[in-house]
Order: sequence, then structure tokens, then C-alpha cells
Amino acid sequence: MNSVVTGLQWGDEGKGKIVDFLTESADFVVRGQGGNNAGHTVIAKGVKYVLHLLPSGILWEGKICVIGNGVVMDPVGLVKEIDDLQEKGISVPPERLLISDRAHVVLPYHRELDAAREASLGDRKIGTTKRGIGPAYADKANRCGLRLADLLNKELAAELIELRLAEANPILASYDLPQFNTADVLASVKEALERLRPHITNTIPILSEAYKAGKEILFEGAQGAYLDVDFGTYPFVTSSNTTAGGASTGSGLPPHAINRVIGVCKAYTTRVGEGPFVTQNEDISNYLHGLGREFGATTGRARRCGWLDTVLLRFACMVNGVTDLAVTNLDGLDERTSIDICTAYRIDGEDHTYPPADREAWNRAEPIYETLPGWQEDTTACRTWESLPENARNYLTRLAELSGAPIKYVGIGPDRDQTILL
Ligand code: GDP
Ligand code: IMO
Ligand code: MG
Repeated sequence: MNSVVTGLQWGDEGKGKIVDFLTESADFVVRGQGGNNAGHTVIAKGVKYVLHLLPSGILWEGKICVIGNGVVMDPVGLVKEIDDLQEKGISVPPERLLISDRAHVVLPYHRELDAAREASLGDRKIGTTKRGIGPAYADKANRCGLRLADLLNKELAAELIELRLAEANPILASYDLPQFNTADVLASVKEALERLRPHITNTIPILSEAYKAGKEILFEGAQGAYLDVDFGTYPFVTSSNTTAGGASTGSGLPPHAINRVIGVCKAYTTRVGEGPFVTQNEDISNYLHGLGREFGATTGRARRCGWLDTVLLRFACMVNGVTDLAVTNLDGLDERTSIDICTAYRIDGEDHTYPPADREAWNRAEPIYETLPGWQEDTTACRTWESLPENARNYLTRLAELSGAPIKYVGIGPDRDQTILL
């Protein structure tokens, strides 16, 4: 059984924790898109880990992790992540971490171009993580990117970077930002590249062989459906296909190799960065921040918070083909007396049950809510569906009904074992 774990909202749904929970039975854990814009938190045996480029499966001994061709890879960032893990006693030998030679590389000028674009957008800025993700994917699509295979060929790499900088430097100069020369760019990644060299390989036939041998493959999605470059709140999105299809194009395994799509959502909604958020709500934001929750794992920014939005979930379940829902952070609502669920958007007097494409319509959308009673009980010690308070079960049942997919997992705390399996 091969599964994709994918976010159904704006990222940070708790994918890392669900992947960690499912890794026990998996053989391979694969990232197929995104880069170190991701921050996946796993709490295992009381220790907190935040993973950015490394698949969360790395925390389980004996599991093989793959950074697929669809990922954009910051070599220096990855080496730092490996070193940080090794300091916590987790080893990352070459046989446990395979990196695709086709993965595109994030270079220092991508980060500067990311910052330059944001600065130039003023009020229309995206609020990116400034990790150079957009410019690296843009270079890939524009056919002027470097893949790891290119970077390992020194003369070719120098030639390609020289060409790229001829275009990038004038742009940076126009923002009074530092310009780059080829030698410095190469020098900045030299050491990291040497460290990573034993990991870099053609991962595609390896995954194919594993699939044919019946090994279990788990895909770890990054970001979420509304950050997907096609299905998200464009232009306030990231630059990759975060939805389930990205797992196939990002790894080289065919679509029919995937049997299950596990869609992860919080029991409420959060977003970090700019862009529309119809159910954003100050009261629930202050409440969650007051509990010390909802601060970003990558940039530390306070996440914007709001009520559950099933207009988002319905469409996300549809485009992903979600077979199982994982609802996390149910415990975040434990103390509430009543809870709102958005069932539709009213735009110019008309009700919509799917999100609009028109970027200006988002700003006019008003949420239509259904209000359910809260449970006002601590759920963090519950380990079965039956032990959840009745109102919590009713809330989850309604969530599934409105979203159009069945619930399989419920998260009632950040720890590995705080997961209810239905
Ligand atoms: P990801 O990017 O989707 O992996 O999610 P993040 O790690 O960025 O953010 C999710 C946050 O929620 C992290 O701090 C997790 O430790 C935490 N978390 C995940 N599931 C639960 C849950 O069921 N309850 C609580 N209280 N925290 C959770
Ligand atoms: P995980 O995997 C939440 C957001 C940024 C910004 C937009 C574009 O932890 O769920 P980018 O740097 O990708 O160009 O930024 O996307 N963003 C995320 N938000 N979780 C993430 O990843 C995110 N990765 C990118 O905040 O709004
Ligand atoms: Mg995250």
C-alpha cells in the first residue's frame, strides 16, 4: 500500500506528525516537491524535531528516505539539517538518505531574487519564506536552472551559473542588492556538495524497483492545497504542485503506484504569509496564540487563525482524491463553548460551495457558518473514537460530511502517540 500524505489547507496541518505515525509500517519515505520552505514538526519520545528538507522518516531507524527530483534543494541548508540531527543522535548515512541527481539546486542568488521580488511588490507581497523557492522553480521552468547532476560537473556548472548571473545581476543591481560572481557561488556550495555527494544518485529506478518488489512507499507532501500553484489562492501560493499528483511527477513513480491519499487538516484553519483567508477570526487567533500555539516552524511568524472552512476542504478533497482524512489539533478547540464551521462563501449575494478563481472575489467572500456546541473537556488523553466527548465526535462527523471524505486519524496532541486511529 503506497500513500501520499498531503495538506488540505495552507500548510502546517500536522503532516510531519502523521507521516511519522505512518512510517512505522513503511519502507521508503519520499519528498517530491517543495524545499526548505517546509517545516515539519515531530515530537518523538519527548524530543522535538523540525524537518525542512529531510523526509520525517529519517527519525525511524532502518527506513530509507528519498529527496525526489521534484524538490528544490538548498545544499548548505540540507547539510546543516543533517548536522543538527546528528547532534541529537540520529545518524543520516548515505544508504538511508538518497537524493535525486535531477533535483534542482537553490543557490544564493535565488534567495536574493526572492527578497528583491517581495520588496518590489509592496502591498502585494506574497509573504514568502525567503528561501529562494520561487526563483529556483522559475529557473527550472525557464530552463536556466541547475540540477545536482549539473552542479557536480564543475566546468558545466561554471558556464551555466555565468549565463544565469548575466541576467540576474542587473536585476539585483536595480534593487541595490549584492551581485554575485560565479566563483563565489560555486565556493559557497563546494563543501556541502562534497558532503552530499555520496547521497546523490538516480533515485528513479531505485524507487521503481522498490515498488515492483512490493515495498511500502510513503510520500510526504509539503505545504498544502491552497499553496498549490494550480489549485491554491493564486498568486498567494508557493511554486510547486503540493497536491497528490506532485508525488508522482516529483519522484518518477507512476500515478497508479499510489493507492491512498491521506489528506491532513487542522480542526480549525491557519495560514502564514499573505493572501485571502475568509474564515480568519481574531478571537480564535488570540485564543490559540494565548495557548502558545500556532507559531511557524520555519520562520517563527505567528500564524493567522480562523474557523474550519469546508469550502476549502471540499475542493481539496476533490483535487487530491482524498481517501482518508487526518484531522489534527482537535485538542486546540477543547475549551471552546461553541464552534463555527464555514459551509459556503457568499459572494455578491450568491452562495458558493467551491472556492473562486477570481482573485478579487476572494476579498468579497463572506463566510456562511453553521454553529456547533463545543465539548469543554480535555481530549489529550483520549485514544479511541468512543472515548472522545460526544460533541467532539459530532463535530468531526459534520466535518467529514461537508468535506466529502471519511476520517481515519484524529490528532489530540503533538506527540507521536497522541493519534486516534479509526
Ligand atoms: P506540517 O508542516 O504540516 O508538518 O505542520 P507543522 O509542524 O508546521 O505544524 C503543526 C504543529 O501542530 C506542530 O507544532 C505540531 O507539533 C503540532 N501538532 C500536530 N498535530 C497536533 C495535534 O493533534 N495536537 C496538537 N496540540 N498539536 C499538534
Ligand atoms: P509546510 O510543509 C505554511 C507559504 C509562505 C508564503 C507562500 C509562498 O511546513 O506545511 P514560498 O517561500 O514557498 O515561496 O512562500 O507559501 N509557505 C508555507 N506556509 N507551511 C509551509 O510548509 C509553507 N511553505 C510555504 O508563508 O505564504
Ligand atoms: Mg510546517
